[in-house]
Amino acid sequence: MENLDWKNLGFGYRKTEYNVRCYFRNGKWGELEVSSSEYINIHMGATALHYGQEAFEGMKAFKGNDGKIRIFRMADNAARMISSCEGIMMEKLPSEIFEKAVKLAVNLNKDFVPPHDSGASLYIRPLLIGTGPEIGVKPANEYLFIVFVMPVGPYFPEGFKPTDLVIMRQYDRAAPQGTGKYKVGGNYAASMVAGNKAKKGGYSAVLYLDSKEKKYLDECGPANFFGIKENTYITPESDSILPSITNKSLMTLAAELGLKVEKRKVPYEELATFEEVGACGTAAVISPVKRIYDADEDREFTYGNEPGPWSTKLYNKLRAIQYGDEPDQYGWITFAE
Ligand code: PLP
Ligand code: COI
Repeated sequence: MENLDWKNLGFGYRKTEYNVRCYFRNGKWGELEVSSSEYINIHMGATALHYGQEAFEGMKAFKGNDGKIRIFRMADNAARMISSCEGIMMEKLPSEIFEKAVKLAVNLNKDFVPPHDSGASLYIRPLLIGTGPEIGVKPANEYLFIVFVMPVGPYFPEGFKPTDLVIMRQYDRAAPQGTGKYKVGGNYAASMVAGNKAKKGGYSAVLYLDSKEKKYLDECGPANFFGIKENTYITPESDSILPSITNKSLMTLAAELGLKVEKRKVPYEELATFEEVGACGTAAVISPVKRIYDADEDREFTYGNEPGPWSTKLYNKLRAIQYGDEPDQYGWITFAE
């Protein structure tokens, strides 16, 4: 294994030793298989390639001070993958296979789990694709599930430093009653033009408004949105955003820290009233936001150049549970072995 600079990893693909695979063929799921190849051999007519039958998950494992590897909220990710399967008519992946494959992939690549004090973690990417060939638009009859892992640092290079978001109303990532609530590749393809434009403009992500009325906040490209004011944690309720497991965790922790928690429609105008704003997700953890620029109205909302006190408390609390520095009262942690 190469010598890794754990503290400066960034968020990107990195080869590790093994991945774990499971095939659905002839109407049933097979045994888990371990592979050291980064490649898959796939039929050119596979539905994943033509019609986007593809869903993925994103989760993390952390090394504690005790040397034990902790996987965060694995059962929630397994359940969300089933929901994605239902959303795009893929064969439902049983949670037991998901969890067994994740644990195996983590254990086989233990050496790649960053040390406790590095601030880095092992990113786990479960992937399910339709591999059976179809030329008419219909679900495949064969599927491949793969879990691969890699050590990562922060998604936004700034880490826990405030960044800027941009609102651009001419772009939507997901339609009302469409697939925005599923973790399927098509949503991410649909967000690339806007995401790229945002990055070029110096913004860390796009803040999408609801695509029907453009009146309410939806989410950021790769993360959910939250705002804090008057001792209340507020996060959008919307049918077209991904139900973030990080956000769900933060709502629990916010309540524990004494904040009120509101999950509801958040009108655009409320941006002017927040004391703190952040983007949250597995990759992003909490990315505090210092400024939101509305490119259509040439209007800006600012939240200070340093992370706010509540965002800092939430970040520290979440990280402490993930790294095993504080007890896990919620059953969020699964030990890899
Ligand atoms: N929203 C989108 C569109 C995402 O891709 C992600 C990342 O997974 C999130 C929100 C955050 O979800 P989670 O906290 O479950 O990682
Ligand atoms: C995650 O947070 O796990 C994500 O999937 C976000 C992004 C890398 C797509």
